Amino acid sequence: MNKKAVIFDLDGVIVHTDHYHYLAWKSVADHLKLHFDEKLNNQLRGVSRMESLDIILQSNSLIITDKEKEILAEQKNEIYKKFLLKMSPKDIDACVLETLLKLKESGLKIAIGSSSKNAKLILERTGMLNLFDAISDGNNITHSKPNPEVFQKAAQYMDFEPRDCIVVEDAVAGIDAGIAGGFETVAIGDATKYEKSSYKVNQFSELLEVLFN
Ligand code: BG6
Ligand code: MG
Repeated sequence: MNKKAVIFDLDGVIVHTDHYHYLAWKSVADHLKLHFDEKLNNQLRGVSRMESLDIILQSNSLIITDKEKEILAEQKNEIYKKFLLKMSPKDIDACVLETLLKLKESGLKIAIGSSSKNAKLILERTGMLNLFDAISDGNNITHSKPNPEVFQKAAQYMDFEPRDCIVVEDAVAGIDAGIAGGFETVAIGDATKYEKSSYKVNQFSELLEVLFN
């Protein structure tokens, strides 16, 4: 494969912060006596904080004001950030770091394409801020996944075309975003159940086989 760059989703691909998102939303939902489980959490993968809240409210048939939504989203983020502030380089799986370094050594550029506004905080806490050649996140986009904007921006930051890059995602919305932007995609984790990705991997290190074949 003659790609020039790999664009990685962050939550649930590079780090296990998808579980922290789950715990934080669960805490907010429990407080309001709303139904929320891992299955519903999977629908929140890749989508923005506000859209995530809308999905939870809709699935519980609850209508609230925009002001109330803002308060709940803020509460969720405060709980979530407490988990993030406890993160350290130990939260990076050895195989993830090794694989990223091998990709870089081969001359490929690596970038982040994340809907999260906390992406830089996570990268900072885990000591990875300087590892990536470009970071496109929730702070530089107007539409979150499945809109392709976050990946298109990541490609632009590296001066590459979508065809030069491959997107790695654990979210169905992220695979759709990649496809909508003209990228080839690799599904990992929850996204492997989705048939639309170009490739699927069971483990992060299998990316090397996909890219060097
Ligand atoms: C994505 C997560 O990476 O970021 C979503 O998959 C999350 O679950 C979204 O809602 C926004 O995150 P944040 O950190 O800005 O609330
Ligand atoms: Mg993800």
